[in-house]
Amino acid sequence: MVETAKLTYQGKTYEFPVIEGTLGEKAIDIGSLRKETGLITFDPGFMSTGSCKSSITFLDGEKGILLYRGIPIDQLAEKSSFIETAYLLIYGELPTSEQLADFNYHIIHHSMVHESIKSFYDGFPINSHPMAVCSAVVGSLATFYQDELNVRDDREIEIAIHRLMAKLPTIAAYSYKKSIGQALPYPDNSLDYSTNFLKMMFGTPCEAYEVDPVAAKALEVLLILHADHEQNCSTSSVRLVGSSMCNLFASVSAAIYALWGPLHGGANQAVIEMLQTIADNGGDVHKYVEKAKDPKDPFRLMGFGHRVYKNFDPRSKIIKTMAHDVLEKSVTKEPLLEIALKLEEVALKEDYFIDKKLYPNVDFYSGLIYKALNFPVNMFPVMFAMGRLPGWIAQWKELQEDDDFRIGRPRQIYTGTQTRDYIPIKNR
Ligand code: SDX
Repeated sequence: MVETAKLTYQGKTYEFPVIEGTLGEKAIDIGSLRKETGLITFDPGFMSTGSCKSSITFLDGEKGILLYRGIPIDQLAEKSSFIETAYLLIYGELPTSEQLADFNYHIIHHSMVHESIKSFYDGFPINSHPMAVCSAVVGSLATFYQDELNVRDDREIEIAIHRLMAKLPTIAAYSYKKSIGQALPYPDNSLDYSTNFLKMMFGTPCEAYEVDPVAAKALEVLLILHADHEQNCSTSSVRLVGSSMCNLFASVSAAIYALWGPLHGGANQAVIEMLQTIADNGGDVHKYVEKAKDPKDPFRLMGFGHRVYKNFDPRSKIIKTMAHDVLEKSVTKEPLLEIALKLEEVALKEDYFIDKKLYPNVDFYSGLIYKALNFPVNMFPVMFAMGRLPGWIAQWKELQEDDDFRIGRPRQIYTGTQTRDYIPIKNR
């Protein structure tokens, strides 16, 4: 027996089916609403609107649960690798050792970019934000791999997946190296994903560079924690662009731009800048908590709040512990950690934050680790993009394979003028 929801409008009652997800999430299927009632729904920001069915990630915002293909995020952070987690998200199951070796082989052997891509970096202004550079270069991959743009060809999609996973670290590292006037390095195929990236970022051609395994492990865990998160802003972007049957390179380029915003992935950069501002102004966290509470003050506590989590973001708890571990080992004391801990302690005692269920999110502590790993602040959102790439790929692929596939085209409520005639300019 299908559960239904009834809507009564202008004296007539309509019934719509209620669908239920694997773990109990329920939705009213309103696909026929306009046809039956002439009404559309109105839900700015999609506070109560599901855009798709997905088997990739599950969040429970009230309980602070995050599962990738059913596996709790803390288990993957502790036991998996980023490449293995990427395989799980994209293909749905943990790989066998042969599958993992094959996936890893393809990613390692696609990590170089076309030599002519290097010249793009000569054209960008030296102070370009690396998110703008990375999105532009990722989008340009559609010009180099024109035989991988057919979104209904499994083989073309598979090669595009390998190329994107393999090349984003190289593209990202180049955006940093160019900004500091250093040579653009080649990937080192003898190294794992995170170690290779750190070597491209911080090594030079002048001497051997040994990556600190603690840094590589911390990066692996951060990439795993950022790998997917249901239908967040950038993932919804990759789906909407992909819904026009646009290729994977262009769809991911759009997602990188969406992630850049300070309300989304750009928050990890904004958190550090906020903590630095507080430090530069005497470290008075109470003053900034009051600013955040003031509805007339546009200031927000960056790294706090979440559309779904109304409890602790499970990723934030893991990253907070990691921040302690990594920073304890670093030779220089990190004053911003002290301020972050104080800010969290003070904010979580405030009724404003308790009532609005505003907790630290994934971006609150991650920047402190990136900073300890010597990443420049403007590279923090790029690290988020590298982590989120397998999630974007998995969600785009799931969309292309969806039996309910259709182009995304929301409706609107028009609030403009009534119909009116053109007025010649001499009469205006
Ligand atoms: C990410 O969606 C995802 O899954 C995203 C993400 C992922 O993995 O993809 O988890 C990654 O983007 C994390 C969020 C990073 N952004 C920030 O840290 C920026 C600061 N936080 C916010 O601006 C805000 O909390 C959002 C954008 C995260 C959520 O916005 P919502 O759900 O639209 O909530 P809202 O803006 O309507 O806020 C509800 C209330 C408002 O007050 P009232 O209008 O009800 O009086 O809470 C207030 C807001 O003013 N509020 C804050 C606040 N966040 C919300 N007040 C002060 N400081 C904050 N940080």
